[in-house]
Amino acid sequence: MYDSSTTPKWISILSREEGLETAYTQNMTATLIASKNGTEIIHHRLARMGTMAIMPAAGWNELESLCLLTGSLRVTYGSETSILHPGDKLVAAPVHEHVCIVAIEDSEFLYVSSAPVFQSYQGLVNGFHELAVKISLKDGYTASHCERIRRYSLMIGCELNLNATDLLSLSCGALFHDIGKIRIPDEILMKPGKLTPEEFDIIKQHTIFGRDIMDSPENPFLNIGSKVAEQHHERYDGSGYPYGLKRDDIYLPAAIVAVVDSYDAMISNRPYQPARKKADAVREIASLSGKLYDPCVVDAFLKVVDTFAGED
Ligand SMILES: [Fe+2]
Repeated sequence: MYDSSTTPKWISILSREEGLETAYTQNMTATLIASKNGTEIIHHRLARMGTMAIMPAAGWNELESLCLLTGSLRVTYGSETSILHPGDKLVAAPVHEHVCIVAIEDSEFLYVSSAPVFQSYQGLVNGFHELAVKISLKDGYTASHCERIRRYSLMIGCELNLNATDLLSLSCGALFHDIGKIRIPDEILMKPGKLTPEEFDIIKQHTIFGRDIMDSPENPFLNIGSKVAEQHHERYDGSGYPYGLKRDDIYLPAAIVAVVDSYDAMISNRPYQPARKKADAVREIASLSGKLYDPCVVDAFLKVVDTFAGED
């Protein structure tokens, strides 16, 4: 039992997160433990496949450091990836390239910055949360559906060893790939029967609307994922939309979301189609490799799809 009477006077004992500022999403909790003269110490909890980004910024010349307490992290700095174990540290002063941190298992780490970051971080996290709720209200999808697409996509992106910029684009773009649907009229989006060709043309616009929303200066935290929203319905053989892009002209993170989104649609109950068995859906995706889907994405999908089971 802890005895507070023996506490040295210069230490503040803070019980869990009581009285501390906290920012959280479905898979991340960040708590500002202490700050003075601009320096901040932030405690992070990341659930498995939770992601954190560190971005370089013009004029930023501060120290950033991370020390892993528990779990393991996959850290991609530029195009180099390393695995961090408890006790491992990262130090950058300043960060020059994008850093993408993915939790391989539930992890906790301390993050120290020599200039304040927590407040803008909190704003960003709240912005993410509000948008996720807005999409789920509009589209009838739950936030967990969007998060599942993000996790599956990220597993494929890690398997393909994408660089940090593409991984961050993938994570953000997969989570908000259908954000453009908030501009599609409800009577078309929710229409129970078959869509007319004109109505389908309007639905197709969600890719362009999505790109515009994510590119907007009002949503700087979404900019990195805009190309994924724009291209996630493009197909390898050119039969997709909005542009009919083919093969390598399709942005790879968008080609990944195309596979995962199709797979998820196949195994989900929809008003117009009952859920299919996972094995059938996997077979169908494999059979469309090189036709609708990028073969290298399908190969990576087939390698990691068995691990999706524990993620549902
Ligand atoms: Fe879509």
